[in-house]
Amino acid sequence: MVGGGSAPGPVYFDAAGAEVGSVREVGTPYWPLADLRLRTGDLLLRPITEADLATIADLLPDDVELDPAAPILAGLDRRLQRGVVLHQAYWNARGTWRLEHWRLNFAVFAGAELIGTQELEGEDFAVLRTVDTSSFLAVAARGHGIGKRMRRAVLALAFGPLGAQVAVTSAWHDNSASLGVSRALGYQPNGRSWHRRGTGVDEFTHLRLTRDRWLSAPTGPATTITGFEPCRPWFALAGDAAQATPEGTGPSQRSASASPDSG
Ligand SMILES: CC(C)(COP(=O)(O)OP(=O)(O)OC[C@H]1O[C@@H](n2cnc3c(N)ncnc32)[C@H](O)[C@@H]1OP(=O)(O)O)[C@@H](O)C(=O)NCCC(=O)NCCS
Repeated sequence: MVGGGSAPGPVYFDAAGAEVGSVREVGTPYWPLADLRLRTGDLLLRPITEADLATIADLLPDDVELDPAAPILAGLDRRLQRGVVLHQAYWNARGTWRLEHWRLNFAVFAGAELIGTQELEGEDFAVLRTVDTSSFLAVAARGHGIGKRMRRAVLALAFGPLGAQVAVTSAWHDNSASLGVSRALGYQPNGRSWHRRGTGVDEFTHLRLTRDRWLSAPTGPATTITGFEPCRPWFALAGDAAQATPEGTGPSQRSASASPDSG
């Protein structure tokens, strides 16, 4: 067994202490991202594991867009087909993790229930210090402010220990909920573009949140971040101690000084 002898694997608890899974991550010492945790109120965000995939595929709402270029497998109904794409996207993100391009996708738990996912993505992050986000929630979980809370949690990671300068996001012009999350968190317009949508063409809205705006945004529930330190090399932050912040910094926990790393 890798890295831990016969010791039992980590058992995960939500903020209230309830067990939310005991999946053993093979080789966790070689993949410390598996132990990263973001907690805000009763929400827990932890990186998706292979054991979550069927649950997430079962949960996947019809309005969540997946890779349109994914191969269509003959004989599978739409739900199965989409589940296959989701599985491959997970393996792809892990297998192709590079400093130049990484995708960190979290399962979102409310108490013990997995209710959605929240992804943080970095393209040439070490240089650009820019992150992108995407997410979905089960239909029943929407409209209660959870979308904002889980986005805020990954932004606390981005503007906190990761030292991001900018967060961007994009959505179809008519995706009111996604655009609503972004605007509520202080993102500003960042242009529009046109893309193929189904058989037609439609407008994509781009939004951008700077570090300064994040630092001056209305405070929300605190996000507690644990397990980040061993992950620093995965983000090209190994020799970058000056960029480090205490774990758990978020807008409501930042220090009075608006230092570049206090968000
Ligand atoms: C996007 C998504 C995660 C948002 O989560 P949510 O919990 O429903 O959103 P919230 O309740 O946090 O609402 C955020 C803001 O948007 C507004 N909003 C939410 N749903 C809305 C809707 N259908 N129409 C208009 N505004 C809406 C809210 O009023 C809130 O703004 P406010 O704080 O100014 O009042 C969720 O709707 C979803 O899973 N959508 C499908 C997948 C998707 O489109 N993902 C984004 C593309 S990557």
